[in-house]
Amino acid sequence: MIRFLINQDTVELEEARADLTLLQYIREHRKKTGTKEGCAAGDCGACTVVLAEPDAKKPNTLHYRTVNSCITLMSAVHGKQLILVEHLSSNGNLHPVQAALVEYHGSQCGFCTPGFIMSMFALYHSNTKPNRDDVLHALSGNLCRCTGYRPIIEATLAACAQAPNDQFTQNAITTLKKLKALSGLEDASDMQLGTGHILMPTTREALRDAIEQNPDAQLVAGSTDLSLQFTQQLKNVNKLISLCHIDALKQCTTTEHSLTIGAAVPLNDAAPLMLKRFPQVAELITRFASLPIRNQATLGGNVANASPIGDTPPLLLALNAVLHIDNGIAVRKLPISEFFVGYRKTKLAVNEWISAIEIPLLSSFQKIAAYKISKRFEDDISAVCAVFNVTVENNVIVNISAGFGGVAATPVQCDALNNALVGKPLSSQECLTLGKQILHDAFTPIDDVRASAAYRKTVLANLWHRFWLENQTENKIETRVVQHA
Ligand SMILES: Cc1cc2nc3c(=O)[nH]c(=O)nc-3n(C[C@H](O)[C@H](O)[C@H](O)COP(=O)(O)OP(=O)(O)OC[C@H]3O[C@@H](n4cnc5c(N)ncnc54)[C@H](O)[C@@H]3O)c2cc1C
Ligand code: FES
Ligand code: FES
Repeated sequence: MIRFLINQDTVELEEARADLTLLQYIREHRKKTGTKEGCAAGDCGACTVVLAEPDAKKPNTLHYRTVNSCITLMSAVHGKQLILVEHLSSNGNLHPVQAALVEYHGSQCGFCTPGFIMSMFALYHSNTKPNRDDVLHALSGNLCRCTGYRPIIEATLAACAQAPNDQFTQNAITTLKKLKALSGLEDASDMQLGTGHILMPTTREALRDAIEQNPDAQLVAGSTDLSLQFTQQLKNVNKLISLCHIDALKQCTTTEHSLTIGAAVPLNDAAPLMLKRFPQVAELITRFASLPIRNQATLGGNVANASPIGDTPPLLLALNAVLHIDNGIAVRKLPISEFFVGYRKTKLAVNEWISAIEIPLLSSFQKIAAYKISKRFEDDISAVCAVFNVTVENNVIVNISAGFGGVAATPVQCDALNNALVGKPLSSQECLTLGKQILHDAFTPIDDVRASAAYRKTVLANLWHRFWLENQTENKIETRVVQHA
């Protein structure tokens, strides 16, 4: 059974297809058509809805997150409050975010508007008095093709300048009690959680049993990759096992030496921890997809997916991360450099899953930079991604650990760069020209819609040039642009 609230009403879903998306449920089963379908691929934001749940840090308050309902599965709604655009007005009055959009003329054709409203609503409830950059982040998953963004941004700034005061804040205590009652119905060993088509184990032992008893079932975490198989490729899937309700996969720990992130932690929750320890890689973390995608997508999913254009594998390769791989009986540790064995092929056995990703912390000798080259600033996959982690002592290179995406069939490293440049001064012209030449010749990328092979080779060499320039201690050149345009 999947249990959740729709606004204030408790729903118990006993039967649902494994591939039923939340958007299909909302529009076809509940006949709530305010939520729109544009792309069915997580790209446009027309289907944005909000899920509220007790805040992990302040359990007596609610945390509101946007998700793209077109690629969200019903298992992700379990234990949460689903809020739709229809629920926002109260007693015939528009919600403050709706009123602001009207006042600032933020909608013309209106197709995108419900999605924008829901992103504005979640930001309104973040109670952070957001600035323009925060607003751009909050709206990063919403496209509008006819109004133009200025009035929408201004409406959001105006609406979110005040502390939240609506029927949701007034009902917060009741909502929290109802959500608690939902989770109180659960027994931790309850393998019936789910619908028969979507299994939702809550422990690693139950996950092991679920895999053993359902060898045909696929694992799913945030579903931001997997759902595209149903919504774009129209593939059938009979059975899924969700990883999202297993506490052991949602823990993060920091020691003196490393940061360990649970495989099923949404990227947006892992981001502050990663940015605190690795602020130099903000470009990859903040430009990963869009906010609603990062609210769902997990680090484990990004690695297990083994896409050659995934953003975190190059980062984790450069940072020498170690994967914790579990089968419910024992956990083995595998350096990520040994994980990818071919196009979308990994060393995971059929009965294994990634339980956590351990990233060693940096020493003061390491110079790090992460670069993402894509056609759009946000909500776009990389054409080329490069992460450099260069250890330098007394201006001499001692070690280079780097990770690259978009240039081979798997995320890759480049031993030749390390072999050629160790022992050379980072500031030397030789280091610049040799590094560029090696990276230009190291890989044979493909031509595709994102970029030509020649472009990828040139840009990779130029990223080394950029890294070299940014790390000249005399005559330091500030070239990084991580802020939103
Ligand atoms: C609009 C859009 C924009 C995107 N932008 C980016 C981007 O900028 N950068 C980028 O890298 N990606 C991007 N993606 C891809 C996707 O969001 C990421 O790959 C994401 O991290 C996948 O995580 P998930 O939890 O959603 O995985 P899922 O879709 O749930 O699973 C993906 C695969 O991994 C397997 N899996 C998941 N977790 C585990 C685990 N713990 N152990 C073993 N197997 C597991 C599943 O069985 C499945 O095969 C984008 C996707 C969309 C739809
Ligand atoms: S319909 Fe476009 S993001 Fe969902
Ligand atoms: S108002 Fe028409 S697409 Fe945004």
